[in-house]
Amino acid sequence: MAVISDHWPDIDVTLVDIDKEKIDAWNDRNLSNLPIYEPGLQEVVARNRDKNLFFSTNIKKGIKEADMIFISVNTPTKVSGLGAGYASDLKWVESSARLVAKYSEGYTIIVEKSTVPVKTAELIKEILTECQKDFDSINKNFSVLSSPEFLAEGTAIKDLENPDRVLIGGEDDKSINELKKIYKKWIPEEKILLTNIWSSELSKLIANAFLAQRVSSINSITALCEVTGAEIDEVVRSIGSDKRIGQKFLSPSPGFGGSCFKKDILNLVYLCRFYGLDKVADYWEQVMNINNWQKDRISTLIVHSFFGTLTNKKIVILGFAFKSNTNDIRESPAITIARNLIANGAHIVVNDPKVSKKQIEKELLLKEFEKDIISGGKWNFECDIFSGSKDADAILIITEWEEYTKLNWQKITKLMRKPTWIFDSRKIIPKEKLKKLNINFWQIGTSEN
Ligand SMILES: NC(=O)c1ccc[n+]([C@@H]2O[C@H](COP(=O)([O-])OP(=O)(O)OC[C@H]3O[C@@H](n4cnc5c(N)ncnc54)[C@H](O)[C@@H]3O)[C@@H](O)[C@H]2O)c1
Repeated sequence: MAVISDHWPDIDVTLVDIDKEKIDAWNDRNLSNLPIYEPGLQEVVARNRDKNLFFSTNIKKGIKEADMIFISVNTPTKVSGLGAGYASDLKWVESSARLVAKYSEGYTIIVEKSTVPVKTAELIKEILTECQKDFDSINKNFSVLSSPEFLAEGTAIKDLENPDRVLIGGEDDKSINELKKIYKKWIPEEKILLTNIWSSELSKLIANAFLAQRVSSINSITALCEVTGAEIDEVVRSIGSDKRIGQKFLSPSPGFGGSCFKKDILNLVYLCRFYGLDKVADYWEQVMNINNWQKDRISTLIVHSFFGTLTNKKIVILGFAFKSNTNDIRESPAITIARNLIANGAHIVVNDPKVSKKQIEKELLLKEFEKDIISGGKWNFECDIFSGSKDADAILIITEWEEYTKLNWQKITKLMRKPTWIFDSRKIIPKEKLKKLNINFWQIGTSEN
């Protein structure tokens, strides 16, 4: 939305949210307090905020004054009831549709931006049509479009400025053209794809499933490289040079994370089962299974490296974000791995350049320095990698932040206890550097461990 405001000075863009704390942070004078860290975002907000870009909790006013409404609310996996653990919970989409039905005036275009299961637009339309009858004193007309968001966190502004494509799914030419006009200001027309509404909704799920599948595919091969003598970098280079495969999304990792891949694959699996396509569901579920397996195998090999117990072991985790250039830790592999290590009695010291202590506390369900009642394991946050590494037994790299590629390993490992272990789950440290230091070193996708 901020990017739209940047390209359209004469359109007022108002972001409304029920979360006051979030809106206050979006309005914070100090731009480093914005709730999301994203390269280039502060600059876009600074250019437009309070000119034609507004952040507010006044949902009624926002809806009433809008000609076009983008529903961009959360659509997490259901935790209870029918489809729990797989289906998307659409209660926030539904409540947004009800608010739009209640407060909108005149002709309003509703754009589904959230990632939703196929045929959610039908639910929105039904709510709008039914509610329309209750509020017939005011003239209300709606048109529903689907325009899913394909940006990737960490490169969101770049992706929005120069997308591979944008999708508009719908049937109503008038509203399609209105939305197309907005995108056309900076996106070439040939990149604006028009589809029917269900293709648009499904395409977003499938795009994420294909991307996650690449991550799981290469991660499955990291383990094979480790036991055969092949090098994952060399395999990646060799297969990625094939134009049909391409280089992107082939980096070895402790697994994919973020708010989208897991929930979208689970949602796809649910949809397939709903339509009786069990084999197709099983196929896509494997992408999730490999992702879980990769996180577990990394935690397990760390425990094995210390002969089965991590009690009284201090392990530094470098990076808690699910990838670099974001402060998002939702579904980060760091959560599962840290939990596993704490369950084995470890004292975890976390460092991350953009993630806060509060975020980690929320995900680990354990306060900083609080002992796990069963294992006695605990965690704390440390801004300074050198202090954090003092007397540590191991360092585990989870996020590929650029600053971790430039660390002085000689200085760091001197501060650590013996036997010293470094675990590199992103393959970002030049192995030759560590070889000279006389320490134990494990690196993903290499057999020289
Ligand atoms: N995060 C991404 O990179 C990304 C990329 C593409 C698509 N998506 C999709 O976009 C959607 C949102 O993702 P997110 O990561 O921004 O989620 P989020 O949970 O960070 O934000 C959703 C916001 O919606 C607000 N909200 C919920 N109900 C509301 C209501 N009735 N009225 C006003 N505000 C309400 C919540 O308070 C919350 O702040 C999801 O469907 C997601 O799959 C996300």
